[in-house]
Amino acid sequence: MTTSTMAHDEVVPFSRQLWESTASAHGSAETSTNMAKLVKGELSRDAFIAMQRQLYFLYQTLEQEMAANLDDPIIKAFHDERLDRTAALSADLLALTGEIPDADEIDPVTAKFCELIRSTAKEWAPALIAHHYTLYLGDLSGGQQIRGVVEGAYGIGKESGTAFFYFDELGDLAEFKNQYRSALDEIGFDADQRKRFIEEVHASYALSSALVAELEL
Ligand code: HEM
Repeated sequence: MTTSTMAHDEVVPFSRQLWESTASAHGSAETSTNMAKLVKGELSRDAFIAMQRQLYFLYQTLEQEMAANLDDPIIKAFHDERLDRTAALSADLLALTGEIPDADEIDPVTAKFCELIRSTAKEWAPALIAHHYTLYLGDLSGGQQIRGVVEGAYGIGKESGTAFFYFDELGDLAEFKNQYRSALDEIGFDADQRKRFIEEVHASYALSSALVAELEL
């Protein structure tokens, strides 16, 4: 590592470095065909339900792994049950389809994503927070915009299919996100750990995008 890289890492808060180095991945995810359709209310109701069914498996895995790794101080610091989405997704799917999916209904992309989360947790637990960050901060950002579109497009609400998008217990979401970013800054990762974490965020963006891309148009 060069001296200038070291100086950069020390000066730039990690949350900012993370955002800067993943901004283009975010841009690709945001503008991918199905995401663009979802944001415009043009994704079919069936495709939306198919997406939420896969997210059910994904969040269940992430939330199980977070809970299973609480002996790691970094996981403990970020673990917050108010973020958990499994129960909300179950309620939404019951309201929308009358059932929650069986384990064998997981798609290959989602299965790969869940496997990555599990193997990451075994390899270096703090990298789980990379997935935590990508999924929950996304839900607290673009997800809030998507909620209104989805409710308008499919004529549903919190009690009938969009509980996933509601984080009432968190209060002011902008404030929560600021605190989350400060917590990232306070972890004190060294340059190699920052790099490893950022790579994991890239993997999370790639799989999130693939999950949305495979939906039937
Ligand atoms: C797979 C899709 C997506 C993922 C995984 C994702 C993830 C994220 C993440 C992790 C952040 C937090 C960045 C940070 O502060 O460090 C974020 C911010 C943001 N996202 Fe997304 N996003 C996605 C799609 C979208 C879409 C479709 C929109 C537009 C409706 C959107 C709008 C935004 C906005 C406006 C912010 C900034 C919010 C703020 O700074 O408070 N995102 N997203």
